[in-house]
Amino acid sequence: MANVIAIDGPSGAGKSSVSKIVGSKLGYLHVDSGALYRIMTWQCLENGVDTSSPEAVAEFASKVEIECRPERGAIAYYVKGEAPGNRIRTPEINAHASPVATVREVRSRITAILRGLAAHGNLVVEGRDITTAVFPDTPARFYLTASPEARALRRQKEEVEKGIANQSAEAVKASLLARDRIDSTRKCAPLRKADGAVEIDSTFLTLDQVVEAVMSALPPEWLPAGA
Ligand code: DC
Repeated sequence: MANVIAIDGPSGAGKSSVSKIVGSKLGYLHVDSGALYRIMTWQCLENGVDTSSPEAVAEFASKVEIECRPERGAIAYYVKGEAPGNRIRTPEINAHASPVATVREVRSRITAILRGLAAHGNLVVEGRDITTAVFPDTPARFYLTASPEARALRRQKEEVEKGIANQSAEAVKASLLARDRIDSTRKCAPLRKADGAVEIDSTFLTLDQVVEAVMSALPPEWLPAGA
């Protein structure tokens, strides 16, 4: 059985940066589960599926084929041989992803994909329901959070740096809070801190400090000899 480090938390809490560094320190594959929900959303929009209709989304999602391949320390995703790249990071996808992620059939499909990835080896998986629903039994479970202001600033900087959008911090914060609300109030696998998960508030911590907090809470036998 592969080791799985599960990291949940709201948008902009720093899950991706932390997961990538922890993964590379340990040689675990990084898995961005949010990208799978974004890919489903992107495919819905490309194919004219009404994302406000759970029935239409459920029916369409059952046909989307996502190929998952380990590449350079992470699981890379392809749809019909194409990598989605920044097409799944736009404000439009941000706005539609949370409603798509409330659809039970989408969640069960993606949960099955994520569990299957353990066949590739040890994983660090980030998302919203990894500690509560996808890998609830792993001994390494974390809930990463930060203030809405800190999260909005990080997301805005990232959008500008990657040339994805140029929204004000206020607009980014509003979109992020709207998604938080849908993600944490939906019926199926809402975002919440799992019982027994280690909570880390990154508002006033550096990236290195968060990574250190995660590494120091892992089962000691998962750490490389001498660490
Ligand atoms: O982490 P992210 O912003 O890329 O996630 C995109 C959307 O998918 C967001 O609305 C939350 C949702 N999501 C989810 O419901 N469960 C996950 N495990 C990961 C993401």
